[in-house]
Amino acid sequence: MPASKKILFLAGDGIGPEVMAQVRRVMDWLNQTGRTAFEVEDALVGGAAYDAQGTPLHDDTVALALAADAVLLGAVGGPKWDASLPFELKPERGLLRLRKDLELFANLRPAMVFDALAEASTLKTELVSGLDVMIVRELTGGVYFGQPRGISALPNGERRGVNTQVYDTHEIVRVAKVAFDLAGKRGKRLCSVEKANVMESGLLWREEVTKLGADYPEIALSHMYADNCAMQLVRQPKQFDVIVTDNLFGDILSDCAAMLTGSLGMLPSASLGAADAAGNRRAMYEPVHGSAPDIAGQDKANPLATILSFSMMLRYSFDLAEEADLVDNAVRGVLAKGLRTGDIFQPGKTLVGTTGMGDALLAEMAQLAN
Ligand code: IPM
Ligand code: MG
Repeated sequence: MPASKKILFLAGDGIGPEVMAQVRRVMDWLNQTGRTAFEVEDALVGGAAYDAQGTPLHDDTVALALAADAVLLGAVGGPKWDASLPFELKPERGLLRLRKDLELFANLRPAMVFDALAEASTLKTELVSGLDVMIVRELTGGVYFGQPRGISALPNGERRGVNTQVYDTHEIVRVAKVAFDLAGKRGKRLCSVEKANVMESGLLWREEVTKLGADYPEIALSHMYADNCAMQLVRQPKQFDVIVTDNLFGDILSDCAAMLTGSLGMLPSASLGAADAAGNRRAMYEPVHGSAPDIAGQDKANPLATILSFSMMLRYSFDLAEEADLVDNAVRGVLAKGLRTGDIFQPGKTLVGTTGMGDALLAEMAQLAN
């Protein structure tokens, strides 16, 4: 009997519940075939939590997340909550508080091109085919959380908006370690990205990463300014293996890298905290895409990014490489068979909905497992 693991499901807003429902089916299949023993608990986050509980993340949900072996999140946000709410009550705050309270400082955002989708990229096929870049984004520091912040009134009648970019050495070192370790398991190349030419926090970042690099002689470390990195990502993306960068640059560069792959609907992510003595890390997994309110509730959303996020959970939280491979190969299989949701549809392929993609994936898993 596999050991029982507690997973917290935070479906969130928009297409979140629909794509999470497909993961639930994959998880049930793994349980029913005796491969895993996952127990699922559901809770609210984002706009859904605000509507039901008056806050985008209830304290009880934080407690559930802290007690779980891993968290899987769908998506948060939507026009319904955009304009009217103060910052503290916006759906996004729920997500940001989860990252902060669970201390999930390392955000892994792989951008990989599935062979069957190489032509869906806006870039030339030869530039992206076989692409496999991992962006490691610092997730609990920098300008997202720095103090002081706020909007204040000035004596001259104007207003001033302030945010603070701040990094302490330990915040840089711990995320850089994750990136070096990952590079060691991949192509052994790490590119550290900041604006050391303009920002002191960037200069400190470069100095600390360089120092740490001495512990990793087998990794080829390079440094790049963030603006150049944005350009290089669309010019010659395959030059990169692992990129490590701060919270804001990581937010921007990961969207850019994501689009090289053809669709945001395909990309998973993992957010990891520090490892305890037993080597276990707090972790939350989520698709890179948002809540896509324009297609919510219409069975149109691509569930594959969330399913691939679940596969990252199998791999990184539970060391279930075989099961993770099974899920990943099933994704490859359904794509190879020509099944496409709207976001990755091309003429000549078979258009399916969210549930249809889930059906096909389960059938593929069953077949591969035989
Ligand atoms: C992301 C998103 C979030 C971020 C938003 C929803 C707060 O863009 O995860 O990339 O800016 O970090
Ligand atoms: Mg973003």
